[in-house]
Amino acid sequence: MVFDNLPLIDLHRHLDGNIRPDTIWDLAQQNGIALPVEHFNDFIPHVRIEDKASDLMEFLAKLDWGVKVLANLEDVQRVAFENVEDLSLAGIDYAELRFSPYYMAMSHNLPTADVVAAVIAGVKQGCSEFNVQANLIGILSRTFGLEKCQHELDSLLVHKDNLVAIDLAGDELGQPAELFEQQFKQVDKAGLNVTVHAGEAAGPESVWQAIKLLKATRIGHGVRSYQDPALLEYLATNNITLETCLTSNYQTGTIANIADHPIHTFLANGVKVCLNTDDPAVEGIELRHEYHIAKTTLGLTDKQLQDIQLNALHAAFISDAEKQALLKLKSANI
Ligand code: ADE
Ligand code: ZN
Repeated sequence: MVFDNLPLIDLHRHLDGNIRPDTIWDLAQQNGIALPVEHFNDFIPHVRIEDKASDLMEFLAKLDWGVKVLANLEDVQRVAFENVEDLSLAGIDYAELRFSPYYMAMSHNLPTADVVAAVIAGVKQGCSEFNVQANLIGILSRTFGLEKCQHELDSLLVHKDNLVAIDLAGDELGQPAELFEQQFKQVDKAGLNVTVHAGEAAGPESVWQAIKLLKATRIGHGVRSYQDPALLEYLATNNITLETCLTSNYQTGTIANIADHPIHTFLANGVKVCLNTDDPAVEGIELRHEYHIAKTTLGLTDKQLQDIQLNALHAAFISDAEKQALLKLKSANI
C-alpha cells in the first residue's frame, strides 16, 4: 500500500544486486562467457533466491553472475542505465543506488575508478531519459578485506562529487566494522554521508560500531537492534533511520518469517524506519511489494505506512529544498 500523494523512495537498493537475468544472459553471449546451463529458464535459480538462503553469504553468492559478465565499461554503463529504467518501471520517484566498484571490476580486471565513472554515466543517462531522480552511494565491500576496501575507497573518492555517501557491505560476521575505522575517517574528511550494513548477520554490537566508530547516520537493516534496549533508545533519540528490507531479511535468514520482523518493536520505541528493496532482481521483488507485505503480513496501519514513506524522504541524503520539491511533485495527486 503506497500513498500516491507522497514520494515513493528506495534508499537501500544495490545496483549490482539488480542486474536483470536477461541482461546477464545477453552479456554472457556477447562476451563469450560460459554459463552453467544451456537454457535461459534453467539459469534463473543461479541468479535468484527461490525461497530463502541459509545465510547472508549464500544469498550474496546469487549476485556473482551479474558481475562476472561485466567484461568492459560499456557493460557497466548498460546495467547502471537499466537500473534507472527499473526505477521508472517500479514507479519510484527517488532512489539512492549503491554499488561496489571493485566487485563490479574484479572479474575482468577493469580499472576500478573507471567503473565508478561508467556507473555515474549510466545513471545520469537513465535519469534524463526516464525522468527519475537518483543519487549514488559507493560501497566498500568488506568481504574482500581491508586492502581492497582502501583501493575501492580511493577509486570512489576520485568521483566523490557524484556520490552522496559511502556504505560498508558484505561479510558483516567475518569483517567487523571496527576494522574499517581508518577508512571512514577518510570518508568524513571527504564530506560524504555514511550508512553501514549492520545488525543483519551480526548483533547489536555491530550497530554500535557502525554508529560510534564509523559515524553512520543511517543503518542498513539494523534488524538485531531490537536485542538492545539502550541501542533502540539511542537510535530514536539521535534520529538514526533503519533502512529496512523485509524480503531480503527473510531470504538471508536474518528473520525466520516476515511476520517475525521486529519492525513493530522499532516503531513502538520511536525508531524511524523506511522500507527498501536491497537486491530486487535477486529477490524477485519490487518496492511496492515490500509496502504490500508490511500491510498484509505485518499489519502496519495506513498511518504507519504513510509515516514510513515520509521517513524515507527525511532520511534521504539530499537537501531540504530537494525534499520539498519531491513532496510538491506528488502533492498534486490528492
Ligand atoms: N550486498 C548486497 N546485499 C547485501 C546485504 N543484504 N547485506 C550485505 N551486503 C550486501
Ligand atoms: Zn544491502
